[in-house]
Amino acid sequence: MAGRPPAPGDGQPGLGDGRPALRDGRPGLGDGRPGLRDGRPGLGDGRPGLRDGRPGLRDRRPGLHSLTAGRGLLFGGDYNPEQWPEHVWAEDVELMRAAGVNLVTVGVFSWARVEPEPGARDFGWLDRVLDLLAGAGIAVDLATPTASPPPWLGHRHPGTLPVDESGHRLWYGARNQFCPSSPVYRERALALVADLAGRYAGHPALALWHVGNEYGQVCHCDVSAEAFRAWLRERHGDLDGLNEAWGTTFWSQRYGDWAEVIPPRRAPYLVNPTQRLDWARFCSDALLEHYRAERDVLRGHTPGVPITTNFMGLFKPVDSWRWAPEEDVVSNDWYPDPADPLFPVRAALTHDLTRSLGGGRPWLLLEQAASAVNWRPHNLPKPAGRLRLESLQAVARGADGSCYFQWRASRFGAERFHSAMLPHAGPDTRLHAEVRAHGAELRRLAEVAGQPVPTRVALVHDWPSWWAMEEAGRPSDRLSVTGQLLAYYRPLWERGVAVDLVPPSGDLSGYALTVVPNLYLVSDADAEALTAYVRGGGVLVVGPFSGVADPNGHIRTGRFPAPLRDVLGGSGEEWRPAPEDRPVRCAWADGTPFEARTWTELMRTEGAEPVAVFTEGELAGSPAMLRHRAGAGVAWYVATLPDHDALAELTGRALADAGVSGALPGPPPAGVEAVRRGPVLFLLNHGDREAHVPLAEPAEDLLTGARVEGGVTLAARAVVALRP
Ligand code: GAL
Repeated sequence: MAGRPPAPGDGQPGLGDGRPALRDGRPGLGDGRPGLRDGRPGLGDGRPGLRDGRPGLRDRRPGLHSLTAGRGLLFGGDYNPEQWPEHVWAEDVELMRAAGVNLVTVGVFSWARVEPEPGARDFGWLDRVLDLLAGAGIAVDLATPTASPPPWLGHRHPGTLPVDESGHRLWYGARNQFCPSSPVYRERALALVADLAGRYAGHPALALWHVGNEYGQVCHCDVSAEAFRAWLRERHGDLDGLNEAWGTTFWSQRYGDWAEVIPPRRAPYLVNPTQRLDWARFCSDALLEHYRAERDVLRGHTPGVPITTNFMGLFKPVDSWRWAPEEDVVSNDWYPDPADPLFPVRAALTHDLTRSLGGGRPWLLLEQAASAVNWRPHNLPKPAGRLRLESLQAVARGADGSCYFQWRASRFGAERFHSAMLPHAGPDTRLHAEVRAHGAELRRLAEVAGQPVPTRVALVHDWPSWWAMEEAGRPSDRLSVTGQLLAYYRPLWERGVAVDLVPPSGDLSGYALTVVPNLYLVSDADAEALTAYVRGGGVLVVGPFSGVADPNGHIRTGRFPAPLRDVLGGSGEEWRPAPEDRPVRCAWADGTPFEARTWTELMRTEGAEPVAVFTEGELAGSPAMLRHRAGAGVAWYVATLPDHDALAELTGRALADAGVSGALPGPPPAGVEAVRRGPVLFLLNHGDREAHVPLAEPAEDLLTGARVEGGVTLAARAVVALRP
């Protein structure tokens, strides 16, 4: 069970692209599953790079520049030649060249092929593949094949197979079937990685290492339980510390012996929320430890070759703020649902997250679908033009490469109906023609490689807070972290305002506006930093149900949000989920009405201006939004879920407080995305209608070479990349 949870904004706790939960042995997120997870290094510390979107000057790690130098933007996909007879490989490489492919990911699921039986090595085929690619000038992102161990490993060592919450072992026959804490899995994986690295160090095709694939596995076995105990000892010291942190005086849960301490397993009723919170932290860390072990083996052999692992955007099980500093290059897989009307906003948010995880350095879109996927119940193809539109959107938001899953469509296996750059029907197809055309146009954007996306707005997102907020037994499960994130991001996107995501302990000094859609769990230090940010002149917007819990998930007593009460100039005493069958009526201070939904809070001002109030029911007259001048800055608090127009109005006011404007002098036409990357202004029309954007200065469209003056008219799904 596992896989990707649903996307932000859909009211469900989850992820990004609507993948069904439990798709491949990974725990489904919103399903009550034990998440993963803090103990976290202070953000600022481990985080790569800078706050203003520019790469850190002192950052000497290898990066994408070693790939883009001389190649320009990267274009390609997962290449699985082991699924094809060798005579097909030559055709592949010829077609890749014709399509402008300059980077392929090889070997992701090749463990059984390179180690057909325990200890054996069969690298001959891989030598030939890499030689062929090198001969064609195509760079290789070489994967450690450890995401899918061969059947012999599970058969001989069942302890390497993961166990679910109910104690059932998950079997081989799919992929991702490993226990992150299994010493046997670890040993076999590292031995293979060492041989792979030793063999291909210095190979002319090797340009990037790809560790594992989409980490997210969780295992509840006894070996994991032992590793969890060790992790807990580190975090809480002794059993007294653990009992205190987990609040075990509740329901007679006191632990008297470490052997009694277990992962959250299937139990008769609600499991201890702090146990689950620590488990989420642990699971992310356990995977990270394995990732690091593989990475260190690779680094030992090839210190100059950058290393990545492919993230899945807002993927709940992996605390990406802790992971990203451990990579040289941040990469992401992104599979928007073609049926999702908010896909451009969701995509932009995900791309901004990926860029921010790398501290603003260029990132890589490592996987996307050329057209339909095969894992939703009903898989719509991408309408014509969306392939390039989606790819260019990632480039506009800082990607130095746009790659696909996969190069050639599989004939067999679970993904036989997944689209590819080269469909079953062959190169003489509409889809492949789009792929070729896109490869050619990316070459014309070479100068964009390495350029930063400057931002003055920060959007705070935190994994531990996400885990804790969406734990069972809360006032309402209709309030979702990703839903709130998307709701607050959308008006910024609509105005063409560039945004970085930051962790709550991130350095906010470069940002004029910081938006905190939800920060349920907050440490004292992070709350103090947010307060100091406002007093020092920053503008802060805080959404509802924030500042509620401490890092152990214990409720902070006193009026809420206790640690932010002073800076917000107001406080509350009741969280009041609202009936879903009708809107909550509110009004701005001038009497203009608006509607909200789902959630209300009983607040009072303590120095803040009540910029909006509830206008009916028991809360009539009490504040729905507060604005407070504190020191040199301004803090806003929102005590409900305002509808989109009201949130857009609030965003406009907060931007005015911060003196921040978008990529254009005014908001772009509806459906048009405007973003600047270095000197280049990207305008992307996601709408189905033509749109006109007036321009103050003449420019050249890098995609066509056309000169643009006075303004530009964009057909539906058209994109321009304008350089003055
Ligand atoms: C990704 C995965 C690929 C392929 C793809 C299909 O999750 O990394 O191997 O399965 O999804 O959409």
